[in-house]
Amino acid sequence: MQQHVSKSAREWQETTYRKAREKVEERKVQFTTSSDIPVQPLYTQEDLAQFQPQEQLGYPGEFPFTRGVQPSMYRSRFWTMRQYAGFGTAEESNKRYHYLLSQGTTGLSVAFDLPTQIGYDADHPLAAGEVGKVGVSISSLEDMETLLHGLPLERISTSMTINATASILLALYIAVAKKQGADVRKLSGTIQNDILKEYVARGTYIYPPEHSMRLITDIFKYCAEHVPRWNTISISGYHIREAGATAAQEIAFTLSNAIAYVQAAIDAGLNVDRFAGQLSFFFNCHNNFFEEICKFRAARRMWAHIMRERFHAQEKRSMMLRFHTQTAGSTLTAQQPDNNIIRTAYQAMAAVLGGTQSLHTNSKDEALSLPTEESARIALRTQQILAYETGVADTVDPLAGSYFIETLTNQLEEAAWQYIHKIDELGGSVRAIEKGYLQSEIEQAAYDYQLSLERGTATVVGVNRFTIENEVQPEIQRVDPEVGKRQAAKLAALRQRRDNEQVQNRLQALQDAARGSKNLMPFIIEAVEAYATLGEISDALRHVFGEQREFAAEL
Ligand code: 3HC
Repeated sequence: MQQHVSKSAREWQETTYRKAREKVEERKVQFTTSSDIPVQPLYTQEDLAQFQPQEQLGYPGEFPFTRGVQPSMYRSRFWTMRQYAGFGTAEESNKRYHYLLSQGTTGLSVAFDLPTQIGYDADHPLAAGEVGKVGVSISSLEDMETLLHGLPLERISTSMTINATASILLALYIAVAKKQGADVRKLSGTIQNDILKEYVARGTYIYPPEHSMRLITDIFKYCAEHVPRWNTISISGYHIREAGATAAQEIAFTLSNAIAYVQAAIDAGLNVDRFAGQLSFFFNCHNNFFEEICKFRAARRMWAHIMRERFHAQEKRSMMLRFHTQTAGSTLTAQQPDNNIIRTAYQAMAAVLGGTQSLHTNSKDEALSLPTEESARIALRTQQILAYETGVADTVDPLAGSYFIETLTNQLEEAAWQYIHKIDELGGSVRAIEKGYLQSEIEQAAYDYQLSLERGTATVVGVNRFTIENEVQPEIQRVDPEVGKRQAAKLAALRQRRDNEQVQNRLQALQDAARGSKNLMPFIIEAVEAYATLGEISDALRHVFGEQREFAAEL
């Protein structure tokens, strides 16, 4: 029997592995992650020789939260299955929410159309052709009441993907809850409210940074006092990744934006532990399975240290990075749409092994259109099978201690810190964005990935390999082109019916407050309760704040 001889990894690589390579060459010249981190053929205890489990790993529910924010994680409560949905009119979207709840979804997530996101009513000339297209059209309290009709707001948490007009949609949500007789202090949910990534990656901004940051910190202050269970911001890496960033950049740019928000709130006079527990995050889950799992673990550990050491937070909850994940829209292909069910399932498993609190799984047809009811159901079933049938939710952070996982987690953290230090040198995220730094880094990463696709060094099944000729297009979800006309007619009737003098008074009061330093939330709530529209409120603020144009790269 062959004697067991202990050898170093290097000796193994120089002997056994080298012989194996002589027989069968490696299938690629180099193996790297999306963040250009080299992937070794094997990881051993030698890669973790410097690893400090107590400091770097710890326990779930304890600083630095590498293993998860809750001690028991999914053994006690699955992640929230929160499917992003919304299209057409409030009636149509309300129907889809009730359908998803009937199929087992456990959280709501509202998608708004572009006019709603950038502060135009459905009857504004600039809204033409976009009303109800990529999300639901909401212009007034009347629309919001319809959107939320029959939904148990005290029992279900609602996420709203809204940024520049987040203060107005939050005000509308509060106004509906009050009309339903719900206790506003018990409302739980999230507004995305992350304007910095809009400047960098998504583009739905209205006002210049300083005024946008004022609106955001006004929301922090208002919710700390009146809506304590509401997550006031969902600091997003999702769209930064979708724009082409690497995993390390996604961590770094998201946490840099988060640092800017925390600093702005402190500068606005808030105590860090007063608002930090209501901050939340939103990440992408892309194709590289292990890199994505390590990305989440590294991000949690980094945020814990940033909040404790940089901002001197005392409360444990202030140091917890609680996040929602959406599987990567940019990996969905129009070709062979069924392949997207498989991609999404792997990405969902990575998000769960990475400890997400809430998850949206993309539908197979979203490279073609908004999801049909059938494809939205399959996306939800993907989560339910993952939760109830695979066993991955039965123990906390099961991959911890893996030579590869802990090494890659450390490497991602190190790469992300380098970007954060660079952004600090540029004067922080807002200045770095104004200089075009984040944008240029993302553009370069996106270009490099596109090159790898075109050179064939990166494979997309069904697109640049394993293709099918003359594929048949599936049935896709269509939005009624007449929805804009119907929404405009509803608005005209509302403007006839409401007390227009009261509306004007409320809008004037808001403008006066915007010129001063008062918290704008109470004025916005009073305006929506008088049935002032989203566009009218946004215009009142445009009048005072002006509008942000593109940033000219200064670098
Ligand atoms: N033990 C004990 N308690 C537990 C637990 C456990 N194991 N697990 C959860 N809980 C508790 C939590 O503490 C919480 O209670 P609390 O409010 O008193 O703290 C409650 O159960 C709910 O748990 P979570 O807060 O973890 O889960 P939620 O789903 O409510 O919140 C979130 C998750 C990330 C904090 C929140 O911010 C959220 O829901 N975000 C969603 C954002 C979203 O959906 N965005 C969609 C964007 S779409 C988009 O932008 C893309 C498009 O543009 C293409």
